[in-house]
Amino acid sequence: MPELIYIESNGTTHRVNAAPGQNLMQVALRNMVPGILGDCGGICSCATCHVMIDVAWLERLPAMSETESFLIEGVSDAQAGSRLSCQVKVTDSIDGMVIRVPAEQF
Ligand code: FES
Repeated sequence: MPELIYIESNGTTHRVNAAPGQNLMQVALRNMVPGILGDCGGICSCATCHVMIDVAWLERLPAMSETESFLIEGVSDAQAGSRLSCQVKVTDSIDGMVIRVPAEQF
């Protein structure tokens, strides 16, 4: 089972095991990682699940949809590694991936 590493904006680190097929938002909520809200339940319409993926890992992830890209444009602290965590599925290939949680979700 892949291990994912969530890092809060204050540096608090959460190492969690994630079942393949879940998305990064679901994994965060189930493991009580603060800072990821997931208000729309994962249907890519709220952007309250914004996270920053370390750039080295981005090539292992599927490309963003137009909708995800549009929503990220509206996030105040968007960065090169920004993704919506509900749109990224856990696979064995992301074992050890670092996911940074923003200080706030707007
Ligand atoms: Fe709403 Fe991800 S949970 S866009």
